Amino acid sequence: MPHDFMPGLAGVPAARSAVSDVDGQAGVLEYRGIRIEALCEHSSFLETAWLLLFGRLPTQEQLTQFTKDVTCHRRIKYRIVDLIKCLPEHGHPMDALQAGVAALGMFYPGRNVTDVENNYWSAVRLIAKLPTIVAAYARLRKGDDYIPPRDELNFSENFLYMLTETVPPKIWVETFDVCLILHAEHTMNASTFTGLVTASTLADPYTVVASSIGALKGPLHGGANEEVVEMLREIGTPGRVRGYVEQKVQAKEKIMGFGHRVYKVKDPRATILQEVCGRLFKETGTSPLYDVAVEVERAAAEHFEAKKVYPNVDFYSGIVYDKMGIELEFFTPIFAMARAAGWLAHWFEQLKENKLYRPEQIYDGEHNRPYVPIGER
Ligand code: ACO
Repeated sequence: MPHDFMPGLAGVPAARSAVSDVDGQAGVLEYRGIRIEALCEHSSFLETAWLLLFGRLPTQEQLTQFTKDVTCHRRIKYRIVDLIKCLPEHGHPMDALQAGVAALGMFYPGRNVTDVENNYWSAVRLIAKLPTIVAAYARLRKGDDYIPPRDELNFSENFLYMLTETVPPKIWVETFDVCLILHAEHTMNASTFTGLVTASTLADPYTVVASSIGALKGPLHGGANEEVVEMLREIGTPGRVRGYVEQKVQAKEKIMGFGHRVYKVKDPRATILQEVCGRLFKETGTSPLYDVAVEVERAAAEHFEAKKVYPNVDFYSGIVYDKMGIELEFFTPIFAMARAAGWLAHWFEQLKENKLYRPEQIYDGEHNRPYVPIGER
């Protein structure tokens, strides 16, 4: 049956889902019907992960149990640590994370994805261990020791501790947790779709998450946050912003951290991150990158408003991580740590009514060509 070809599948529904919803015209994002602003104000990353996975807010008892389950599974096997030690020190941490997650799947048998209990423990392990893999690679590639997790520290506190060997200040922990909530889920984006395609073959969840990590890495998706900070560093001062933006417009080049397939207003996550920046900088002093970013947003508005191109989530997130001293290349792995909750929520949902993804193509090549022997070509 012939269909219209939609490049990038723009506007083509790929699944039915109750996990999250975006109103791109109004700039509203909801997880399981709850607005992202409310979750950032009142929730924690682990509570939000539970909400995404199971469709409702947990009771105190459920949250306590989930927190305990995740906390107990943060450690990674020494063989995974050894594997990470063997990776090249200049490799990209997203590749290290993808390799680590794929390897995790070799350690945990019982890949029968129809086993609901086993699926719960796979989700717990993935949410728990991704931060440990990320922090381990950050340390080991510099020749530092791997720092094991500490059970008395909460999810965000523990990750920052494993990265720096220091229990972080409260404002960092609160800020980082909000960043994780904001990155935990975002409807049918490229990495979620990739995971669902893999999941539709009934592959195990480690393979599902490893494939999503691969898709998230690219600069048109999660990788944009790195490029934003590189751009802000290159610009250097607010006074150089206008010249830079004009030059990009003339060259018809994109400004990283701007534009979105769905949002036709400012991404609500960018608005929240800007508020978060404000609170963080009040306590810790401003960031020169933030001053440049605000000026870029102002200058870009003059050129892009007609096209409805505004800052997206990646525009301000890197500035927060940079302020905490986190290396640029670890911004996207942090995104992946958070988004694992969303990927797994979609995986749970898909398993209830799975159908193998097998789209069509519109063939525009030739037919009936002769095979020409190599000596006659
Ligand atoms: N800078 C300048 N102009 C832009 C930008 C931008 N960042 N984004 C879109 N536009 C313009 C395009 O040039 C195009 O203009 P034209 O119609 O005159 O040719 C128009 O807006 C539509 O842009 P498309 O690229 O066709 O829109 P699409 O929906 O395919 O792209 C995308 C969305 C890929 C996110 C795009 O905006 C982009 O490349 N942004 C920069 C990378 C980025 O920040 N990615 C992170 C996205 S959020 C996330 O994944 C977490």
